[in-house]
Amino acid sequence: MNTSSKLLWALHGPNLNLLGTREPQIYGSTGLDAINAELERLCTAHGHRFESFQSNHEGALVDRVQQASRRQVAFIVFNPAAFTHTSVALRDALAAVAVPFIEVHLSNIHGREAFRQHSFFSDLAAGVISGLGPIGYRLAMQAALEKIAGKGQEDASAGSADGAPPPARGG
Ligand code: DQA
Repeated sequence: MNTSSKLLWALHGPNLNLLGTREPQIYGSTGLDAINAELERLCTAHGHRFESFQSNHEGALVDRVQQASRRQVAFIVFNPAAFTHTSVALRDALAAVAVPFIEVHLSNIHGREAFRQHSFFSDLAAGVISGLGPIGYRLAMQAALEKIAGKGQEDASAGSADGAPPPARGG
């Protein structure tokens, strides 16, 4: 195995197994298998490995997150779904393993019901993407791959996400 090959995870919370048929006016018509396939393609194109896990059970997700440090997972793309708004246990698991993660939501949780507008994860996350549908997963994985490659910091400080030179600062 290539020693620089890293393991990246996508974790999906409850009801995301129903993507494609679940409230398509909110969550779109793309199924979870198609989302995972694209994430896997991105990871393998960069020489890395990909695993995904979906569960409707909070404890199963906590168990999986707890394995992340032992499995030496480099980055997690995580849509906690409804547990976003409820789960101190999952938050604590992510804090415990200290594996960097990007929080993704298909819908824009800030434009929806008040109870969806609080996340137990956002302040721990390396970043949050909400409202872009399946594109959000792809962007999150691209960001994770760039961060693994060590490009994330320079881009953040330069204010450029596309590798273009930073704009000249006024003043
Ligand atoms: C969601 C938003 C959550 O509020 C909701 O409970 C979900 C999916 C999203 O991807 O938009 O199940 O995380």
